[in-house]
Amino acid sequence: MTTLLRALHADITTLAVDAIVNAANSCLLGGGGVDGAIHRAAGRELLHACQALRGCDTGDAKLTSGYQLPASYIIHTVGPVWRGGASGEAELLASCYRRTIEIAAAQKLRTLAIPSISTGVYGYPIEQAASIAVATVRASTKAVGGIDEVSFCCFSDGDLRVYQNLLGNTASQA
Ligand code: APR
Repeated sequence: MTTLLRALHADITTLAVDAIVNAANSCLLGGGGVDGAIHRAAGRELLHACQALRGCDTGDAKLTSGYQLPASYIIHTVGPVWRGGASGEAELLASCYRRTIEIAAAQKLRTLAIPSISTGVYGYPIEQAASIAVATVRASTKAVGGIDEVSFCCFSDGDLRVYQNLLGNTASQA
């Protein structure tokens, strides 16, 4: 079975998919950017659920319910801070996407929306990050099977263009 990979321009908190992915920090207690938006939209229960998880390593991911979001679940992953590219950033970023897909498959989730992890506050250059995102999601979805659709949720037109170029404009089959 193939997985449809696509890019869209949206606020990820509005998407009614099986799971949205959060670009969290290692405390998992909320922050700015997409993390802040997800915590605000999901409500206080999310903070309580995250407190019980006792943090998350960089490159790993953890699952919670979606609470007041239209999405059923949230997969929280912690991307690397960009330090110039020679500190294992690429491997850690790929690991975020791989762990996210593994958790989604274990939970039998079929539709996911993923923001551009590490490319905001954490400063990862968008072209390099997006290329890792697309390649890793393509390989991981093929390896696990059972995932119908992964949307790369972009928050700017510039990011959307980068993902569309990588995906061959509008959509791509993994
Ligand atoms: N929907 C989709 N994408 C969004 C949204 C949203 N509502 N809000 C922000 N983004 C985009 C940003 O434009 C950026 O492209 O998410 C991408 C990731 O940016 P950040 O949220 O800054 O995440 P990251 O770079 O991984 O930094 C993580 O930021 O707030 C903290 O707690 C978080 O410390 C952690 C750090």
